[in-house]
Amino acid sequence: MTELDGKNILLGVTGGIAAYKSADLVRRLRDAGADVRVVMTRGAEEFVRPLTYQAVSGNPVHTSLLDPDAEAAMGHIELARWADAVLIAPASADVIARLAQGLADDLLTTLCLATEAPLVLAPAMNRIMWAHPATQANVARLRERSATILGPGAGDQACGEVGDGRMLEPLELVAGLAALFPGTELTGTRVLITAGPTREAIDPVRYISNRSSGRMGFALAAAAARAGARVTLVAGPVTLATPAGVERVDVESAQQMHEAVMERVDACDVFIACAAVADYRVATPAEAKIKKQDADMELALVRNPDILADVAARQRPPFTVGFAAETHAMQAHAEDKRRRKGLDMIAANWVGRPEGGFDTEDNALEVTWEGGGISLGPKAKTRLAAELVDVVADRYRQKTAHAGGPA
Ligand code: CTP
Repeated sequence: MTELDGKNILLGVTGGIAAYKSADLVRRLRDAGADVRVVMTRGAEEFVRPLTYQAVSGNPVHTSLLDPDAEAAMGHIELARWADAVLIAPASADVIARLAQGLADDLLTTLCLATEAPLVLAPAMNRIMWAHPATQANVARLRERSATILGPGAGDQACGEVGDGRMLEPLELVAGLAALFPGTELTGTRVLITAGPTREAIDPVRYISNRSSGRMGFALAAAAARAGARVTLVAGPVTLATPAGVERVDVESAQQMHEAVMERVDACDVFIACAAVADYRVATPAEAKIKKQDADMELALVRNPDILADVAARQRPPFTVGFAAETHAMQAHAEDKRRRKGLDMIAANWVGRPEGGFDTEDNALEVTWEGGGISLGPKAKTRLAAELVDVVADRYRQKTAHAGGPA
């Protein structure tokens, strides 16, 4: 189950090159269980044919307020009532301005006035248009009226410029939309999560690290928050946005991560160790930049503390979930890790393979606990995280029910 299961999503598409991405967005929304109906503005039709959205949504596409056939099938007031949320992606500067004014000069803006469903906008435009005070004032006005603005992201633009104004990727939009429909599986539960790599300094400019992107840990934090938990995310150095409703603590090294977790662990019910913590650090990092000298050079390394094992070894440990990234004999290694560290659950995944693992969008997990297990994926990390959170919530409830109350 995802938060969008069975939800009716009215997707407004306006004129902009990002409209091509919205066809994939429809598919991703349907993957998440939503029923999607698409409304296109005239500008949008210049970029993509309605038939495209009809094919991917499985529903007729609505383009005009004055189309008697469409009105007879599902009139605009009926459509406005049908929607559990209205998502406009891409949202052009023009539609943002018209919505801020409260205009109803086409089907989409009329629907936005006629609905009580939450309004979500995914702006997409040239960076100067986005930064323009008029656009910013319009966005602020819509936010005051409780509209949710997702993005825009930064990067290369279709117009050849670089900056803020790119529409967020479909999966980011699905996650942002899902956040409007919180679950209750973890209401009242405090969840602590580690994510990302750590950096172990060699000298002031160099470090040892790994390829972890932090995406899985961040997706888990978002999913746990959506499931109603109070979430603290201890994050290594990554450039990901903090998920809505999540408290974030940034750290760099394994020792800092250990310290940040130990300070907070007694106040948490569930601990999920998703970080790719460096097992070793440089024994004595140099205070000044090391200059090259000989052909060879040796670095002395010492073991870092094992955060997960230390949490599981506490007198009253939370429900502990570990991850195991393996290149061979995955199940055997993961099971050994679970027992050795005394964990409630372990989620194992392959690494070093094209189908998933570090620094990829998709992943698959073999989740095991004492006497049971489940295979999840392969699928997008955001969806996988929501499913893993469901499994964690279920096992945590069973454990606390047996123990007679939360840890
Ligand atoms: N972990 C941790 N602190 C460490 C090392 C690992 O909390 N210093 C956690 C990770 O977040 C993950 C799990 O432990 O949940 C991984 O276990 P580990 O045995 O460290 O895995 P690998 O580093 O892959 O170990 P190995 O070299 O034994 O394969």
